[in-house]
Parts: sequence; structure tokens; C-alpha cells
Amino acid sequence: MKVVAVYSTKGGVGKTTAAVNLAWEAAKDLRVLLWDLDPQGAATFLFDVKPKVKGGVDALISGRTDAGSAARPTAFERLDVIPADDSYRDLELVMDGARKSTQRIAKVLDSIRGDYDVVILDCPPGASLVAENAIHVADVVVLPLVPSPLALRSLEQVGRLVADTDKKTPVLAFLSMVDRRKTAHRVALETLPTAHRDVIDVFVPATVLIERMGMELAPVGTFGPTSEAARSFAALWGAVRKAAGLKSAGTKKSRH
Ligand SMILES: Nc1ncnc2c1ncn2[C@@H]1O[C@H](COP(=O)(O)OP(=O)(O)OP(=O)(O)O)[C@@H](O)[C@H]1O
Ligand SMILES: [Mg+2]
Repeated sequence: MKVVAVYSTKGGVGKTTAAVNLAWEAAKDLRVLLWDLDPQGAATFLFDVKPKVKGGVDALISGRTDAGSAARPTAFERLDVIPADDSYRDLELVMDGARKSTQRIAKVLDSIRGDYDVVILDCPPGASLVAENAIHVADVVVLPLVPSPLALRSLEQVGRLVADTDKKTPVLAFLSMVDRRKTAHRVALETLPTAHRDVIDVFVPATVLIERMGMELAPVGTFGPTSEAARSFAALWGAVRKAAGLKSAGTKKSRH
């Protein structure tokens, strides 16, 4: 079982959007669990899962509820979600009060190691203990970068957080919400993937189709399968899959 943390210190950059679409891509041939770690519950909402955690996140982190029973099925085969509810507002405090506070997520995931091929963590923004937990357990950290002068700052911050763990977890950054009508975005597209070793050559365009996910309550590949956005997420998943050390999609049956 491999763990993919979708994370940035910066808010509103497309983390949840990426987590949801990557989970759907991965579930074409793998057993996938998306864990919504954000009290806003956006990933929970986008997969149309009830935002209810029995006993709250406290029970999950302390081991009174196991991850398997917290996981909910989605409308998609092989794809489950651990939803977030309001109790996730206290996640930081709950972790802080626990033993080995940076390894709580790893501990929870231990109990479902054989049940899923990949776990995708949709992290809240900020440099919190939740982020430290996610980085600790991750095989790869996926970081959306909105092209702006400040974008690289979040990449550097996350780079430092990863370096602090001594685990050398790869960081895979991609340009998110790219609007090619904007000069700064075109410049970022041309320069960043070559200038920065962590920025890959796959980008997600800014498009109303992605905004529509909030109405369709489904990943973009379900209602716009041939769109540039859907193709971007498929390419992104290919890169993430490789970086996480998952075997490439073989002859297993896929939905297409
Ligand atoms: N490529 C895109 N094109 C158009 N809109 C986008 C795109 N990516 C994300 N959005 C929109 O931008 C908003 C923020 O995206 P998202 O929730 O994925 O960011 P986030 O990094 O998870 O935010 P937060 O830090 O609050 O968790 C959402 O309304 C989403 O629909
Ligand atoms: Mg989010």
C-alpha cells in the first residue's frame, strides 16, 4: 500500500481538486482510499459522501474506531472515502495529545494496509501537525503550484518540512489553475519544469469544467472524459504512480 499526500502550505491552490481526480484515476485499476483530513470536508462533498465520523476523529486517531469501518464507499468501484466532519477542527489538538504525535496517521493506516493499494490524503493548508503526519507517512507528496511570484515559496516551505523528516520523500509539484492568456502563467509553464527539479511537465488548466465538479459531485473525467483537464489528471496520475513506486497499469480491467 502506497500513500500519496496532496499538500501545500498555501490554501486554495487545487489540492482537493487534485486529490479527488487522482483518486478516481487510480481507482481505474487499483483499490483506493481517499482520506479527507480537512474540516471543510470538500473532498467528502465532491464524492457525495455523508460527512459523519462515528465517535469523531478522536475515536479514529485513538484507535477506538478503525480506519476500515470509517471508510465509506463512493459511487465508483474500488474507491472509498474516509469523510471529514466538524470534529476534524480538533484534529490538531487530538494528535498533539497523543503519543508519537507525528505518527498518528501512519498508525491508523497500519490497520488497513492489506485492504487498499493506494491511500490519498487530502491535507488542509498550513504547516501543521496534520501536515507533519501526512509527510511522515507519504511515499510521495503532490503539490499544486498556482503560477505566481509566491508560488515557489510554498514549494520551498514544503521542501524544508520534508527535509526535516530525514525520509527523502519525493515532492512532485505541478502547475495548477494555469491560464495561458496570462503572461506570468505562460512564463511559468515555459520555465519552471526545466528550472526546478521538483516541478513536472504536467499542468492542469484553469477551466470552468473543473468548477463544475461542485455541481456534478463527480471527478472531471466522468462528465468531460476527453477534456484537457481530464487528460491532465490522467497524466498527473501516471507521474504520481511512478513516483510512489506503484507498478504501471498492466492488463487489469479498467473502466474504459
Ligand atoms: N484548474 C482549475 N480550474 C478552475 N477552477 C479550479 C481549478 N482547480 C481548482 N479550482 C477551484 O478553485 C477552488 C479551490 O480549489 P481546491 O478546493 O481544490 O483548492 P485547495 O487547495 O484544496 O483549497 P484549501 O486550501 O481551501 O483546501 C475550488 O472552488 C475549485 O473548484
Ligand atoms: Mg482542500
